[in-house]
Amino acid sequence: MTYFHYQDDILHAEQVSIIDIANSVGTPFYCYSANSIIDRYNQLKSAFSGIDCLIAYAMKANSNQAILSLLAKQGAGADIVSLGELERAIKANIPPQKIIFSGVGKSKKELRRALELNVHCFNLESEAELDRLNIIADEMGKIAPVSLRINPNVDAKTHKKITTGTSENKFGISHKDAMRIYEKIANSPNLTAIGIDMHIGSQIIDLEPYDNAFALLKNLVIDLKAKGHRISHIDVGGGLGIAHGQGEKEPDIDAYAKIVRSHLSNLDCTLVLEPGRWLVGNAGILVTKVEYIKHGENKDFVIVNAGMNDLLRPTLYEAHHDILAVEHENGKENMFADIVGPICESGDYLAQSRTLPKAKQGDLLAIMSAGAYGAVMAGTYNSRPRIPEVLVKDNHFEIIRRRQKIEDLIALDSVPSWI
Ligand code: LLP
Repeated sequence: MTYFHYQDDILHAEQVSIIDIANSVGTPFYCYSANSIIDRYNQLKSAFSGIDCLIAYAMKANSNQAILSLLAKQGAGADIVSLGELERAIKANIPPQKIIFSGVGKSKKELRRALELNVHCFNLESEAELDRLNIIADEMGKIAPVSLRINPNVDAKTHKKITTGTSENKFGISHKDAMRIYEKIANSPNLTAIGIDMHIGSQIIDLEPYDNAFALLKNLVIDLKAKGHRISHIDVGGGLGIAHGQGEKEPDIDAYAKIVRSHLSNLDCTLVLEPGRWLVGNAGILVTKVEYIKHGENKDFVIVNAGMNDLLRPTLYEAHHDILAVEHENGKENMFADIVGPICESGDYLAQSRTLPKAKQGDLLAIMSAGAYGAVMAGTYNSRPRIPEVLVKDNHFEIIRRRQKIEDLIALDSVPSWI
């Protein structure tokens, strides 16, 4: 089911017209569908029904408090990677017992705060981190629950910047070293190994790399248990891809669950899932307005009021996002153009060489599949304030992040008295 659809030739989010939102909040803005997120969460839950399973939402995908609260209400936990994410998760009423702390560079301050709150598990990524956590836990009189993140050296067949499970990547610990490091944990008085973890990359469409990685994970769990390590959960990470374009097919959630089950369901362990994009990616769009049509020497440009500072994915990962006209006109002539923003960089584009219905000044365009890694990766380059986020449910919408003001930006700076 799609939650963004045309009704009387106008794009709607659920039952709300995008034009009505634009008239109320101005452009550009992000717009999310609450029912889409709830629906995805339930689909995931039912794909894993019968298995004791924690869905730890990878909140880096979209960490707006409203989105977190919505998922918390459905029962989700969180996969976090920073103090900021930890505090956001707590503020959204995600219980610490459902929080998994991932990331290669956890600071002392972050480890202390997470220990103080009793998060469910620290996913360790290096021996140096293991040593640091053991010392901090000792100082605090605590035993820290940990997993090792295993790097299986499996190519996830995704974009090179979002591949994480090969030996070229900074993530995890080689599966060859796992046994030795679990021994080290067993000999660290302030650590206890409760699980094992793996995350091989993001926007994974071909399920085969999962199959290979989870087979390896299964063997490791069996070996670890045989050596007396009490592994009670298996964290399979996130990474499941979505269709970004109309022609694309996304992996079947039940097929993914089947692979997980086939390798990991009979090991007497609970499962942890860390989905990010799959839950929220197609639940959001970026709405922008056409400022100018420019006929260049070699090609045409549709210049819009959203730029790479608002949505970085096209230029950073050559990512494709479908672009729809908010007002649909039957039989309208097409144009072929680059859709570009106002930023002073040639990399500032939302799409290149795209065929779309002939656009004109003032038209609204919707950049699809922008619910994950959109607003969270936005910046203020060219002193462009961060844009608002809106959440739709059924027939109403609310602003869940206000538009930043230029004064907000200026107020962060200070000028030394000697200037
Ligand atoms: N768990 C860990 C440890 C991760 O590092 C990530 C994502 C996830 C879970 C969630 O992955 P997902 O299910 O969303 O694929 N900015 C990039 C994506 C970076 C993903 C980083 N790690 C993009 O826009 O494509």
